[in-house]
Amino acid sequence: MHHASDLDPSTSVVALGRPARETGAALNPHIALTSTFFGREAPGGPGDRGYARFSNESWEPLEEAVAMLEGSSVPALSYASGMAAVAAGLSLVPVGGVALVPSTSYNGSIGLARSLAESGALRLREIDPVDIEATVAAMEGADLIWLESPTNPLLEVVDLPRLIAAARERGLTVVVDNTFSTPLRQRPLEHGADVVVHSATKFIAGHSDVLLGIAVVRNAELRARLLAHRTLHGAIPGPFEAWLALRGLRTLALRLDRAEATAGVLAERLLSAPGVARVRYPGLASDPGHELAAAQLGGFGALVSIELEGGAEHADAFVAELELITPATSLGGVESLAERRRRQPAEPVQVPEALVRLSIGIEHVEDLWADLSRALERSRAGRA
Ligand SMILES: Cc1ncc(COP(=O)(O)O)c(C=O)c1O
Repeated sequence: MHHASDLDPSTSVVALGRPARETGAALNPHIALTSTFFGREAPGGPGDRGYARFSNESWEPLEEAVAMLEGSSVPALSYASGMAAVAAGLSLVPVGGVALVPSTSYNGSIGLARSLAESGALRLREIDPVDIEATVAAMEGADLIWLESPTNPLLEVVDLPRLIAAARERGLTVVVDNTFSTPLRQRPLEHGADVVVHSATKFIAGHSDVLLGIAVVRNAELRARLLAHRTLHGAIPGPFEAWLALRGLRTLALRLDRAEATAGVLAERLLSAPGVARVRYPGLASDPGHELAAAQLGGFGALVSIELEGGAEHADAFVAELELITPATSLGGVESLAERRRRQPAEPVQVPEALVRLSIGIEHVEDLWADLSRALERSRAGRA
């Protein structure tokens, strides 16, 4: 078995999670379509899998590969969706304990935290993690901090090393949603995070054809807690979904390199495009998060958020005029997507009405640019 640290991550995504190299063995893991396993001895003995909600060999290659990419020596846990992994992360708050969650987290994460607070399961302190002093002050007496960087969809960059260090000094459990950066660009466990969650639906699987979540944990004790939670709550992935996510992972480095390079070019061009009031992209020298992103991230990512002049109406018209880029929610796939985020009632109010999030895929940069500039022109002409 290779160790991720021996190899460049672009090699690791290809090499990890393979069956043993035995003559005649398949190159790829097989898909175990079964709900139960042979087991004559007492449950829990060596090699005993029990039941397919407890364990499934189809999850393991993916769980091992993503854990190694994130720098963990214990296998990750895969889930039925990114939100199931988010829910598992939030389950680490003791009943009635205090969770710090950014108001501008992915709307599902802050939505779940608010709903848990309403039911009395936890006490919620909403934070703005870009404001370090206020965030550190809010850590007093808290049990867990939730962080995401860059944030969805404002693309604000959070000082993860500083905040994680401050949280650890105060004994908080730290969970980081690393969906946007992927382990190829940022490894929060190396800064001291306890759990990293992913919507593998996005970049890891990468083809907009599967929902799957992953939680990577710092140590065996946390894994045992989350495994018990997953087994009892039942939010397990299907074997085929796990296989698809691993197949997607094989090309993550290629896809991300290409999409990120294109995103950088498009962000620069959009800066001076007529009808665009603001471009948010951490790779732009003018972006408020640029310095932190340059120090912290291995790349600036494939998401670009733009704010259109003329408010929501112009933004909707712009999205409607796109012919190549697909108007759809989600991100991280090979095909570029665009969405005016506030069309979703759950979106945080901090997100401007006219903000359109672009998830850049792997199409040719000039085809994407032609589509964007044509849609900008047509939607402006419609307003005139
Ligand atoms: C940052 C982030 N975290 C978590 C999720 C939830 O993932 P899923 O849709 O796979 O449940 C999403 C989905 O959009 C996301 O963008």
